[in-house]
Amino acid sequence: MFKFKKKTENENVELNSSEVTSEQAAPSEVAPELVFKNVSNEPINKDNREVVVSVQHVDIEFGRGKKKFKAVTDASFDIYKGETFSLVGESGSGKTTIGRAIMRINPCAAGNIYFKGKRISGKLSNEEKREFTKKIQMVFQDPAASLNERATIDYIVSEGLYNFHLYKDEKDRIAKVEKIINEVGLLPEHLTRYPHEFSGGQRQRVGLARAIVMEPEFIVADEPISALDVSIRAQILNLLKKFQEEKGLTYLFIAHDLSIVRFISDRIAVIHKGRIVEIAESEELFNYPLHPYTRSLMSAIPVPDPQIEKNKTLFVYDPSIHDYSVHKPELVYIGHNHYIYGNEEEIQHYMAIREGKISE
Ligand SMILES: Nc1ncnc2c1ncn2[C@@H]1O[C@H](COP(=O)(O)OP(=O)(O)O)[C@@H](O)[C@H]1O
Ligand SMILES: [Mg+2]
Repeated sequence: MFKFKKKTENENVELNSSEVTSEQAAPSEVAPELVFKNVSNEPINKDNREVVVSVQHVDIEFGRGKKKFKAVTDASFDIYKGETFSLVGESGSGKTTIGRAIMRINPCAAGNIYFKGKRISGKLSNEEKREFTKKIQMVFQDPAASLNERATIDYIVSEGLYNFHLYKDEKDRIAKVEKIINEVGLLPEHLTRYPHEFSGGQRQRVGLARAIVMEPEFIVADEPISALDVSIRAQILNLLKKFQEEKGLTYLFIAHDLSIVRFISDRIAVIHKGRIVEIAESEELFNYPLHPYTRSLMSAIPVPDPQIEKNKTLFVYDPSIHDYSVHKPELVYIGHNHYIYGNEEEIQHYMAIREGKISE
């Protein structure tokens, strides 16, 4: 059971606790609103936007008994329709694990995940599984590893269509595949070829084609440009943007460094060792990075001026600065569409920085 406190002007009001354990929520149940502790008086999600994916207090574990390892702890965020929500953190921080939980590959040890208000974590009927598997697609980091080397491009792009019988007849299937292959900037004559005949960028175009051909509403793009040459990264980002605009897609974009996501994200969540430490709109986060881990990621972004870059001191995050022995931390809303993880004292400090009352 989770309890949230919402502070109003003069009092502490205990909100009705959202009891969202896996056993209690039925698949058809409407998603409870995700509520955060709120230290300011601003309403949360004040523009009332449509939530496509809601991750609520999710833990994800691997292994059993003594070998049990918690890869993700109490992850909570909403992703709004049409936005690019980025998840950023160093390698091994649990980004892919969260993406795979939304894809229903990793089970949640606690909490729930909702897609357009319907619970998609836990047990689902075959019909529901079918529906959500089609609507939620994933694009992977390494197109070489994620494409079946023995299959033709035609088969790779068609696989989901075959699995879900999403075509009237062979003519219809070919028309769909040729259309999408053109849209990703490849040619119909490429369809008879094999992945190894293509460059990394072209393979990622195939990866995009096989996802988009399913007509999904939501895409988990898991480091889709990290394995690509710097020179062709922008092409893939532009393609993602084009599809988002044309088809009203919503993205979870996973990356291990902040510089990549600055201009493509509407909002950014920063994750450290399986724990989300900060969520804010892109410009807000870059203007007011508050959590020391976010600040360390910021300081790692290269500066174009070589002289400044050379003399720059890297800010290293030391988790032992937090003393959580007495006052426990949580992810708290501080206004400005900005959420930060800390205990009461830290939150007051972060808010004072945010409001310009102290410099650090
Ligand atoms: N299937 C798995 N079994 C055991 N441990 C896993 C598995 N998948 C991921 N992990 C562990 O969970 C942690 C988070 O991994 P991952 O989500 O892949 O990180 P990221 O995508 O941020 O690099 C890592 O410590 C990783 O070793
Ligand atoms: Mg990963």
